Amino acid sequence: MRIETVAVHAGTHVDPGTGAVTQAIHPSTTFERDPDGSYPRGFLYSRNNNPNREALEECLAALEGGAAAAAFSSASAATSAVLLALEPGDHVVAPMDAYHGTSRLLRETFARWKLDTTFVDMTDVAAVRAAMRANTRLVWVETPSNPLWKITDIAAIGEIARAAGACYVCDNTTATPVLQSPLKLGADLVVHATTKYLGGHGDVLGGAVVSRVADDLFERIRGVQASVGAVPSPFDCWLVLRGIRTLPWRMRAHSDNALKVATFLAAHPRVEAVHYPGLPSHPQAGVARRQMTGFGGMLSAQVRGGREAAFAVERKVRIFTCATSFGGTESLLEHRASVEGAATRSPDNLLRLSIGLEHADDLIEDLGQALG
Ligand SMILES: Cc1ncc(COP(=O)(O)O)c(C=O)c1O
Repeated sequence: MRIETVAVHAGTHVDPGTGAVTQAIHPSTTFERDPDGSYPRGFLYSRNNNPNREALEECLAALEGGAAAAAFSSASAATSAVLLALEPGDHVVAPMDAYHGTSRLLRETFARWKLDTTFVDMTDVAAVRAAMRANTRLVWVETPSNPLWKITDIAAIGEIARAAGACYVCDNTTATPVLQSPLKLGADLVVHATTKYLGGHGDVLGGAVVSRVADDLFERIRGVQASVGAVPSPFDCWLVLRGIRTLPWRMRAHSDNALKVATFLAAHPRVEAVHYPGLPSHPQAGVARRQMTGFGGMLSAQVRGGREAAFAVERKVRIFTCATSFGGTESLLEHRASVEGAATRSPDNLLRLSIGLEHADDLIEDLGQALG
């Protein structure tokens, strides 16, 4: 089946009791046992599992072509579950431009638990190879990466991870399973912030880990999910699943709009540089075309005149909202360095744009008037 059909149908079953076509929300925290102590319907207690979470996990696994998925209350919780499945003393290779929350987890929280991380430029395959050690157990990539939207060659880094016997994880939040299939390109695990495009409407936080195979590592992640308990509520699962139903169509529209906006900005005299993997000028445009079927809704622009000029654009936009996060229907814009804090690697004149589902011409006119 094609992804549009999977997105509409996976995880959904007509309710045998009522005939309801859309799944009900099950807020019950506990589920009836049989007198012999068994759980004939498969549910015990909602931290362990819940019908809404099961439906969402089934859909996420189907979308990514994985064997199993585990849903979390945020992507940061999903990332932590993957890291908690490792052992103290293990070595991790991660991107120097990973989402800043992922970097912070590795640098601060998990360093104290004796996970040792080497941060590398994932577009430099030789640097990744050189960073590998005998005790490297995890290689993490995020592509396109935030906020310069650099593209990692998923298959090439996967070969290095496989040769070392390390687990290979791809954060697929920005591309989504519609535009990129990391499990088919050699990843063992995919991580998502379902908060972004999968939820798609800026109204629910969530995360997920999808595994290519249902192996011991995934069982450890499942164990962390139930024992640590950073699980999404039934309503949150229901919202993410509802968002997924339209994901393929939304990703097409986000990508079309973003390419138009990126093309406009690239030709604007007040813009120094535009970072978007769909532009032929992008440094990894070839890799992007090979491994992606579209380039998504995220782009960044560096404004001539530095930090103050970037803030001036923020003050003047009317349709764009100045806010963090991405993947919703409405377009957002933010000065990335000031969001990321002291450890930022973002240029001081960089604005990150999440291109929404408004008409592209309205977005272009808004940016045009704001750039002056
Ligand atoms: C690529 C990526 N991964 C993970 C996260 C973390 O998501 P959450 O806020 O759901 O923890 C984000 C958040 O912006 C992100 O952009």
